[in-house]
Amino acid sequence: MRRVTGVATMRTMRSMERLTPPPWKAKVVEPIELRSPAERRIAIGNAGFNTFLLRSEDVFVDLLTDSGTSALSQEQRAAMELGDEAYAGSRSFFRLEQAVREVFGYRYVIPAHQGRGAEHLLARALVGPGSKVPSNLYFTTSREHVELAGGVWEDVAVDEAREPASPFPFKGNIDLARLEEALARAAPGEIAYVRQEACLNMAGGQPFSIENLAAVRELTRRHAVPFILDATRISENALFVKECEPGYAERSLPELIRMIADHADGAIFSSKKDHFVPIGGLVAVNDVELARKLREQVVVYEGFPHYGGMAGHDMEALAQGIRESTDERIVSAYVAQARYLGGVLEEAGVPIVLPIGAHAVFVDARRFLPQLRLEEFPAQTLAAAFYLAGGVRSMERGIVSGQHGSEPYDGLELVRLTLPRRVYTQEHLTWVADVVIHVLRHADEIPGLRMTYEPEHLRFFQARFAPLARFPELAIEGEPATRGAQKTVTGVPISTKR
Ligand code: F0G
Repeated sequence: MRRVTGVATMRTMRSMERLTPPPWKAKVVEPIELRSPAERRIAIGNAGFNTFLLRSEDVFVDLLTDSGTSALSQEQRAAMELGDEAYAGSRSFFRLEQAVREVFGYRYVIPAHQGRGAEHLLARALVGPGSKVPSNLYFTTSREHVELAGGVWEDVAVDEAREPASPFPFKGNIDLARLEEALARAAPGEIAYVRQEACLNMAGGQPFSIENLAAVRELTRRHAVPFILDATRISENALFVKECEPGYAERSLPELIRMIADHADGAIFSSKKDHFVPIGGLVAVNDVELARKLREQVVVYEGFPHYGGMAGHDMEALAQGIRESTDERIVSAYVAQARYLGGVLEEAGVPIVLPIGAHAVFVDARRFLPQLRLEEFPAQTLAAAFYLAGGVRSMERGIVSGQHGSEPYDGLELVRLTLPRRVYTQEHLTWVADVVIHVLRHADEIPGLRMTYEPEHLRFFQARFAPLARFPELAIEGEPATRGAQKTVTGVPISTKR
């Protein structure tokens, strides 16, 4: 058994520190249940040791993703009553367009059913065979759509983005020399667009600075190539700028969000994150010709340009969610949760990505399970271990998500504990921390995995694995206070056992 100690840094929150209460309270609740250790073993086995393949009823604290898992506000629910389900010319679309224009300033708004729908439209409109997309690291679906359109992804992130222990505060920055070199090397018209992602997901939810963004804007202007943001997590990026970048402390969050958006020619959004909606995505651009091309694509793949795969009531919830995503109190309370969880883990000596990012705490599986070779899938293994120990669902963000074709993989090997917005309490996070620390104590007893099924596209979603040896009994001792608590919703008994 491993001894677990550590010292928290200045940038994290001490475990004894109390979170400031968030500016909301719960009105509707959903029951959750911790399955028994034996049931959890069966569940993860049935899921092929892939947390994506678990049933949510078998999950106690679900930190798989912040995507579509947030709580709607009462204002969003009320707005949904106004949903105009007209196929064309829906009032709800125009209210959505108005919200995007007010908050981000982009002139043309093309709705999509979710982020990857928006990425698909953009790739269809701008990417051709052999064209290049320089970007800070990558996101799985973003890269996939560029490649399906025949394009080539080019990583121009700063080196720190790939260094989990580097305290650099702006790992979402683009390496300007690398970008300049890529732009100079390209034939005219070869660069489809330059992409910069806010709160860079695959690096640990790490922001870019406005200084870096402005320099990228300048380079792209000089080389006359479009500059498109992945603005999926722009609100948290704006908050980090306010907190960490000199000169912005006095700016309001809406001002900073607008300032970031203004630097680019357009943006794609998965609205399932910052905008608190279960479904929805957007492409928003300033160029009329690009908007025309995108509308030509949206009718083929998503729907009429006045709904793009969303229902009228989805667009109403989204318009309201966009406004709420500029509320500094809400965004601060969210980021504080990740800092709290990360702080407790760091204090206990759990190897995590620093600085703690926007939407998740990322555990460094290479350092957590140093006995495993990369081919034994340390992050996939660790995600299964967290589930076995306490019903906590997390996501692999390493070789399974990131390896590309037959290229050797030397990227990050992380497990993401992702926080839905406005959903879990500090007690839930304390449970998660207990589970992770418990698994760390047993880390050297944990065997690796082998892949038994590999899908052709985005394999992490549906790949299956089997353990190379029997997993130890990881179940955490003692059960949380929630065991046996409320099991009814509006008076209807809910069966909690299968
Ligand atoms: N861009 C970023 C930065 C994302 O994080 C995601 C999704 C997408 C685009 C695609 O959007 O899911 O609405 O189609 N990220 C989710 C996650 C799936 O768990 O990180 P989508």
